[in-house]
Amino acid sequence: MKKILSKEDLINFLEISTYDEEIFKYANKIRKENVGDGIYLRGLIEFSNICKCSCKYCGLRFSNNEIERYRFSKDEILFYAKNAVQLGYKTLVLQSGEDAFFSVDRICEIVREIKKLGVALTLSIGERSYDELKAIKREGADRYLLRIETTDESLYKKMHPNMDYKNRINCLYNLKKLGYETGTGCLVGLPEQTIESLANDILFFKELDADMVGIGPFIPCNNTPLENEKEGSFVLALKVMALTRIFLPNINIPATTAMETINPEGRIIALQSGANVIMPNVIDKKYSEKYVIYPNKDRICDNVSESRSFIEDKIKLIGRYISDDFGFRKS
Ligand code: 5AD
Repeated sequence: MKKILSKEDLINFLEISTYDEEIFKYANKIRKENVGDGIYLRGLIEFSNICKCSCKYCGLRFSNNEIERYRFSKDEILFYAKNAVQLGYKTLVLQSGEDAFFSVDRICEIVREIKKLGVALTLSIGERSYDELKAIKREGADRYLLRIETTDESLYKKMHPNMDYKNRINCLYNLKKLGYETGTGCLVGLPEQTIESLANDILFFKELDADMVGIGPFIPCNNTPLENEKEGSFVLALKVMALTRIFLPNINIPATTAMETINPEGRIIALQSGANVIMPNVIDKKYSEKYVIYPNKDRICDNVSESRSFIEDKIKLIGRYISDDFGFRKS
């Protein structure tokens, strides 16, 4: 495993299960050598589930009339942000659907206020123009998450009506250019997704030089066009994640909620296979249960303040600890 893996190697490793345990162990070793045993907690504030997009897999899609929509005011966002800071979070992640109400000016104002709390700030609010991203960066936003979802352009088109693959790629390169720590990632197990395209996804993360990569299995969501499709494989998603760690040794990789949703020990297994980040929800359950990207997502943590000590106890058992720095990519 020492030499650089080719695309053919990647495809081979993804296709066969013979070397799975070795891949997971090796990714864990690379993680330990490059980013250590500390785990970064990022406090996730899902501040609006209103979305103008119609991604076929996502429960928040525009045409889903079955969910109750909500949108926080600036004060509500700040309330949860302050609460999370009090609980010890050093990074906050503001995530929403693509909600046009949050104009660049509104986002800038929120960023300005949150940065006064002395935390690192990540945004995950969908595609924005270069000028908008520049203005938001100027206010002090540190990081941005925008998954490419799949690098298979024709699959991308099928999954994302009215969206443009090239635009998304451009947006990611713009983020890098503007100095954001840039996060991307993919879904594993979308209908018609090929193993070769998953290998290409990993190569894309490397080419972009992504600073963070989030990977999760596709989970069929009711009231979406894909509700009757098959769920993605946990082991395959884990393997894509582990191989990403091997390709990008010093980046930050979350043990995603989707991993835990389809496997009760999913996050702990992910943390032992290359991951070093957890993103607990820090909003009230009455809102997080409405942020239904996929079903059962909110079952994972019941109580915001308890979730931190619960996670702490769990990760201690595997010889890890919660890191108290801001959690930027290690150089
Ligand atoms: N299953 C798993 N992950 C999903 N996401 C959206 N819908 C689903 C689903 N049905 C992921 C997307 C998005 C992130 C916020 O959630 O990858 O980027």
